[in-house]
Amino acid sequence: MTQTIAVLPGDGIGPEIIAQAVRVLEVFQQKGWDIQFQYAPLGGAAYDEYGVPYPEFTQNICRQADAVLLGAVGGPQYDNLDRPLRPERGLLAIRKDLNLFANLRPAILYPELANASTLKPEVVAGLDILIVRELTGDIYFAEPRGISQLADGTREGVNTMRYHESEIRRIGHIAFQAAQKRNKKLCSVDKANVLETTELWKQIMNEIAADYPDVELSHMYVDNAAMQLVKAPKQFDVMVTGNIFGDILSDEASMLTGSIGMLPSASLNETGKGLYEPSHGSAPDIAGQNKANPLATILSAAMMLRYSFNQDGFANAIEQAVQSVLKQGLRTGDIYEDGCQLVSCSEMGDAVVAALQSI
Ligand code: NAD
Ligand code: IPM
Ligand code: MN
Repeated sequence: MTQTIAVLPGDGIGPEIIAQAVRVLEVFQQKGWDIQFQYAPLGGAAYDEYGVPYPEFTQNICRQADAVLLGAVGGPQYDNLDRPLRPERGLLAIRKDLNLFANLRPAILYPELANASTLKPEVVAGLDILIVRELTGDIYFAEPRGISQLADGTREGVNTMRYHESEIRRIGHIAFQAAQKRNKKLCSVDKANVLETTELWKQIMNEIAADYPDVELSHMYVDNAAMQLVKAPKQFDVMVTGNIFGDILSDEASMLTGSIGMLPSASLNETGKGLYEPSHGSAPDIAGQNKANPLATILSAAMMLRYSFNQDGFANAIEQAVQSVLKQGLRTGDIYEDGCQLVSCSEMGDAVVAALQSI
């Protein structure tokens, strides 16, 4: 039976990077993989067409699809819209709608990029961290929230950090299971010294640990974790944390890999259905210039093949193709260094497709 990938290019560089990831997936389609692509708008593009950032048209396509591939959303032209209409709300809405509570963000340093990182090569060489970020709870979603006018004429902004133990438990199991398949070390990141929500987080992680005696669990405060990530990142194997801390730490971790343009992600629910997107945003500063690095999106497509379609062979082939273009010295601007060949977004796509065809 034909399977379907919902493709949501989004805004800014979204359409440019998505085009390259789709070309990569088409290589397998041409080799006989029975797949079809259905395009739908999300974010600002959806607001422009339908007046809302996650319209019913897109909802229907995404609910029916076997997996979703997303570029990025957002842009300065949408920043003054009412909050429910903003592109970012569309992204939060699709994550909630599809119950994509488990966000996996692997930060892997390709040896060819050791000098692209702003950290010393010896600090990052061999780096392979998996950040497991809870994605449908926390201060991102809990009520009350808003900006309100007080009786004295001043204003107050409110957001609420909240986790139910069941939400912590399910992401905890995902993280422990991921650690079991890797180096069996899990670091849970919290701010339990100040925030009760994360004190509960820590307690639940300790409870779950009993089910995984082969995994070594440690705990770290988020401020220290931010520091340790740049001081000695290789101490980490799997990190698990809540929505907001995971957002911040994964952007930080991306620089260990050379560029945020290298960090893919998978957002999964309990059925194995997933949304795959680069961890970066719509990069309005370089949008429309064919300059963006498409590799995070291409690597997200590899994660899609692995997690939603059980096609480990295809996924490995994409990762090998990416490594081979890096070996050839091809670099987009964000990972460029002297002696390499500067290429555009589409040229990088060309090279990955060519490398894939020769594997
Ligand atoms: P950003 O990630 O878009 O950009 C940060 C910096 O990284 C910029 O200098 C950008 O040029 C660079 N960059 C990002 N991706 C790149 C790539 N593939 N290749 C080369 N350089 C790249 O973050 P921002 O500037 O804080 O946000 C811009 C917009 O994106 C905002 O509207 C924000 O809300 C949105 N955003 C969306 C997502 C998402 O869709 N998942 C994620 C983060 C931010
Ligand atoms: C990300 C982004 C989103 C987030 C925004 C755009 C809603 O920063 O995917 O990391 O904060 O989750
Ligand atoms: Mn982010």
